Amino acid sequence: MAFLFLSDDPLRSEIAARRLGQWLPMRVMHLTDFCASGVHLLSPVIVDIDLTDGEAIKQAKDALRDIPSGISKVFITRGKSRAEPYQADALGGAQTIPSVPRRSDAVKLINLRAQAQGGRADFAVAEVPQVLLHTADEVSSLHDVFYETVASGQPLPRAQVVCASELLAESLKDTSIAAWLEAVKQHNSYTYRHCMTVSGLAAAFTMNLGFSDADVQRISIAALMHDVGKVKMPISLLDKPGKLTSEEVAEIRTHAAYGAEILLDDAHFSAEVVDIARHHHELLDGSGYPDGLSGKAISDPVRIMTIVDIFSALIDKRSYKKAMPAKDAYKILLDMEGKLELALVNAFEPVALASQSIKRNVGLQRAVA
Ligand SMILES: [Fe+2]
Ligand SMILES: [Fe+2]
Repeated sequence: MAFLFLSDDPLRSEIAARRLGQWLPMRVMHLTDFCASGVHLLSPVIVDIDLTDGEAIKQAKDALRDIPSGISKVFITRGKSRAEPYQADALGGAQTIPSVPRRSDAVKLINLRAQAQGGRADFAVAEVPQVLLHTADEVSSLHDVFYETVASGQPLPRAQVVCASELLAESLKDTSIAAWLEAVKQHNSYTYRHCMTVSGLAAAFTMNLGFSDADVQRISIAALMHDVGKVKMPISLLDKPGKLTSEEVAEIRTHAAYGAEILLDDAHFSAEVVDIARHHHELLDGSGYPDGLSGKAISDPVRIMTIVDIFSALIDKRSYKKAMPAKDAYKILLDMEGKLELALVNAFEPVALASQSIKRNVGLQRAVA
């Protein structure tokens, strides 16, 4: 069941709710629409109001009055005043979390939920090396930064992208692609998971192909940016459970051209990164989009990214479909002969099979390390 996130200004709360939504299902509701007697609360309630505004505090006091005592209230603080934590405490807040929450804040919520239910947490935290959890947080936080910078017309954070790609490649040298995908699974949002999965698989694939560290990093950077055009789309559309309408599909398809446009406007990214963002949905037989390129018009880095992108979508779990086992997903790639480059698909096999769940595939984990 989703965690309830109450806000007196859902627009202001969007980043906090989206960050928490990476790890936990969130349901955002306007504070004035909330009625405690109308819902059966099982989890802590997250409350985001202006804790320095007397009127907002009074409104929250009224709205939160009927929340049962066993359900914790967790307040978002924005560092506007030292009085915020005291004010949260006065409103019955069990804990506070910052306006840009981190994974540890999500864990805090899980623990409070477990306490409220008098038992174990119902969100498992898999045993994944700490370095991968940290790297996954860093890579996923790029999405928030993309969203903020594009929305405000600022340049994209190239330095942060380079750091994240270095961190990812280094982490994969000491661990495995399967462990990386396990770390990624702990993020709730499909869109964030997809970016992380593609980045990890692209790094692992190019390492396995024998690329130099510099070339692995080039491709990793492009992988991190490949769907940047999705920043203009609401996360509710990108993470929509169930089938998309044809209009929604058409809207999502605009992300490739839009992503290239954003990157072209920003002189900090290479032509290769722009090429991958624009063309990673092109297919060798000309049936892809946005330009219907075919054959030699599709560059090698794009061919690599297309394979990784399709495979990532197949092995990920969505609310309307189970995660496909890696070997079945790989078979689909083989069946796409004529659309994907067969030699590259063949070279991808060890990475694809090594990406199988840690538990089922211990023997193959080191294949790409
Ligand atoms: Fe895409
Ligand atoms: Fe993608």
